[in-house]
Amino acid sequence: MILCHSIAELRSAIAERRRNEGGKVAFVPTMGNLHAGHIQLIHEAHKEGNTVICSIFVNPMQFGPNEDLDSYPRTLEADSEKLSEAGCHILFAPNASEIYPTGLNSQTQVNVPELGEELCGAARPGHFTGVTTVVSKLFNIVQPDVALFGQKDFQQLAIIRKMAQDLCMPLEIKGVPTVRMASGLALSSRNGYLTQEELAVAPTLYQTLVKIRQSIEAGQSDFDTLCDRAKSELKAKGFRPDYLSIRRQDNLKVADSTSSHLVILAAAHLGKARLIDNIAFALN
Ligand code: PAJ
Repeated sequence: MILCHSIAELRSAIAERRRNEGGKVAFVPTMGNLHAGHIQLIHEAHKEGNTVICSIFVNPMQFGPNEDLDSYPRTLEADSEKLSEAGCHILFAPNASEIYPTGLNSQTQVNVPELGEELCGAARPGHFTGVTTVVSKLFNIVQPDVALFGQKDFQQLAIIRKMAQDLCMPLEIKGVPTVRMASGLALSSRNGYLTQEELAVAPTLYQTLVKIRQSIEAGQSDFDTLCDRAKSELKAKGFRPDYLSIRRQDNLKVADSTSSHLVILAAAHLGKARLIDNIAFALN
């Protein structure tokens, strides 16, 4: 695996692979501290292209002023080993000054307001503008044929799909199913903030979403009551919910009983961690 820190090094490594190997370039952007969920994206990337590129960049622009930018785990050495083992060809790990040469922000910003200002966007103002801006930059730097994102961040995936479509970006966006622990807890770098006791409670978030899905499948159509009851249950277990909402998969608008492709999304604080999860499903 070739490790590149600068855009110039990366561009020449990609050009060489394109010259020598041909085929498609598949790209997996991450913020590092890699776990089996990220590595699943690398495995899926191998099915999409014969050059697999991963980036690790803790993007300051997508963190709010009181969020965990400084404490976000940075584990480049262990990450490189995992990526190498998974057969990643090129790792791009730039410094902030490479991506934001004029300060920790970008004068030009990419914004998908309708999808980006609710759910996680309401709780984290400016977050998705930071995500779409850095992902646009990374797409321009790497110029991949395919880019892969986890369904765990369902709203992020929807926003990136919309951005790519609206801006006629010449690549395909692929979603990859969420990788979970046996308990159902979605793997996340932020699970590392949980104490042992909190780790035992954390799977309740997913289990709560499963229960809501089962109620809807059994014919329950009063979505507001389902969500209110679930939030109370989460609070009783020690979570501090940001939102829990049943939405349409296609545009993330609030669903009603006539919608067929649904996604139940939730974000909740537990101890020092903010956990997010979702379940997407279709009704006949
Ligand atoms: P990060 O949180 O590191 O996640 C990188 C990618 O891994 C995202 O596409 C995310 O959805 C996926 N992922 C995380 N946990 C997963 C799991 N349990 N199962 C499957 N996929 C999972 O998301 C970001 O970084 C950033 O916002 C980024 C897109 C890199 C822009 O900075």
